[in-house]
Amino acid sequence: MARHLITSALPYINGVKHLGNLVGSMLPADVYARFMRARGHEVLAICATDEHGTPAELAAMEAGQSVREYCDEQHLIQKDLGERFGLSWDHFGRTSRQQNHDMTNHFADKLAENGYLEERTIEQIYSPSEERFLPDRYVTGTCPHCDYDRARGDQCENCGRLLEPTQLINPRSTVTGATDLEVRQSTSVFLLQSALADEVRAWIEANDHWPTLPRSIALKWLDEGLHDRDITRNLSWGIPVNRPGLENKVWYVWFDAPIGYIGATREWADVPKEEWADGETERDWRSWWYDSPDVTYTEFMGKDNVAFHAVSFPITQIGSREPWHKVDLLKAFNWLTYYGGKFSTSQGLGVFMDDALELLPADYWRWYLIANAPESDDTAFTWPLFQQAINGDLVGKLGNFVNRTLSLTRKQFGEQVPTGGTPGAMEAELAAGVTAKAEEIAAHFERTEFRKATRAIRELWSLGDAYLEAREPWRLVKADTEPGGTQSGRDAAAMVLRTAINLIPVMAEVAAPVIPTAAATALAAVGQQPSGWPTVDLTALPEGHPFEVPPLLFRRIEDDEIEAWTARFGGSGG
Ligand code: MF3
Ligand code: ZN
Repeated sequence: MARHLITSALPYINGVKHLGNLVGSMLPADVYARFMRARGHEVLAICATDEHGTPAELAAMEAGQSVREYCDEQHLIQKDLGERFGLSWDHFGRTSRQQNHDMTNHFADKLAENGYLEERTIEQIYSPSEERFLPDRYVTGTCPHCDYDRARGDQCENCGRLLEPTQLINPRSTVTGATDLEVRQSTSVFLLQSALADEVRAWIEANDHWPTLPRSIALKWLDEGLHDRDITRNLSWGIPVNRPGLENKVWYVWFDAPIGYIGATREWADVPKEEWADGETERDWRSWWYDSPDVTYTEFMGKDNVAFHAVSFPITQIGSREPWHKVDLLKAFNWLTYYGGKFSTSQGLGVFMDDALELLPADYWRWYLIANAPESDDTAFTWPLFQQAINGDLVGKLGNFVNRTLSLTRKQFGEQVPTGGTPGAMEAELAAGVTAKAEEIAAHFERTEFRKATRAIRELWSLGDAYLEAREPWRLVKADTEPGGTQSGRDAAAMVLRTAINLIPVMAEVAAPVIPTAAATALAAVGQQPSGWPTVDLTALPEGHPFEVPPLLFRRIEDDEIEAWTARFGGSGG
């Protein structure tokens, strides 16, 4: 038994996440956490909403709410959707909580003590009528390169060039439109990343077990040169900078957000005892993060997040000169696109977490997304592919096997595991095949190879089908003797169905990390509860053991639904 700390990139607070966000971080983290728990490991799965920065302020303004109100509300919405998606976090926290303020200031203090922070005076835009310095994004003006008249202070949306707000022609305040902007001197805190670049590079190079995607992104980022970075911002919402003279600034959101993993772990430890799960006696947040060589820490994220997790956050940790646990395995994803394009809230394109649950239960989405996770390339969501995955795998393989086996048994033998008959070579071969497949599935999950794991699950399910097709218990039951054998046909049919019923818990348990609800229903049908990774014993459920034929595990998705959803959410032709 080992200890696994698992985090997924913290979803930004500004609205409900789409399926692309989900499959790139929270969902695979959950599948991995469930798998590791099933294997008997101690798991701590942490997530939180990432709540600071200008996008939060702007979204709140648009919603006509204070930032605090907005974040309170959105946090609950995201927490609820995550839970309804079956995300089994040990804690879902908030970067705006006191625990994260404390941790962030702690890291800032340590970095300062070790000489990695420096105050520098730079020119920034001041808005006299608003009585504040404006963050880059809060300045709008004409792009000096392409004349686009609504370029933002950090980047021109039209030509894509990065900008400094002082380069804009006719600058004005994004929020109030004020044009009386001034350039004033202002003091910022810089993190001297350049001084830590070699150390971080050596650490990444030593991590040669990371997959290629995160490794290459991290090294490319370092090759481009690591610059010292302003880690303060002129905002009122955020974690106030704990330095004299800078009290009206906050730490940059990308500085406090990853520290939020630790902050949220402290929140978990601070949860009142009455709310802990049965059997929990201790919540020692430090034992997971600090001087914890016995812990394996795995992070899940989209590729745009890699540099921050492979370079910036480790720099914060290393620069503290304290033994904080750095990521051991970083799993990064490419993009899930919607028909090749971006999911877009503003254009109403694509499926968001709330839409998805309105249409179908979480397991349908979990299966499709994990089976098509954008691991080696960007991958397109399309409705026909979704339909195919559900009808082909869930309805056609798992659902059909469970229903067919139990219905036939009930019809021929009643609602108990049938008695009689002796297994033969075919049953031995089946057990060996299923054992090997289950081991293969586990190996893929261990290595966070989700597509391969789901492919192997599908293959395991097919072994069950192939066995029924080969043994034909519906025919056997009427035969005098088993073909090529000596036992009566009815005895042979009883034994075949008994064997098939015993496959159900295995088929369910190997898939439970991905489709936990359906797996639990299938297990309950044969009187079992989820109990971890299966050991393959096709005689474990004994003769006479009662079962029930459950309602259909999954329903088919019809062509007219696919048409309607394509029209509603947009699609290739829609
Ligand atoms: N909120 C960021 C995003 O959605 C991810 C932050 S990950 C963290 O891309 F670790 F920094 F919090
Ligand atoms: Zn431009």
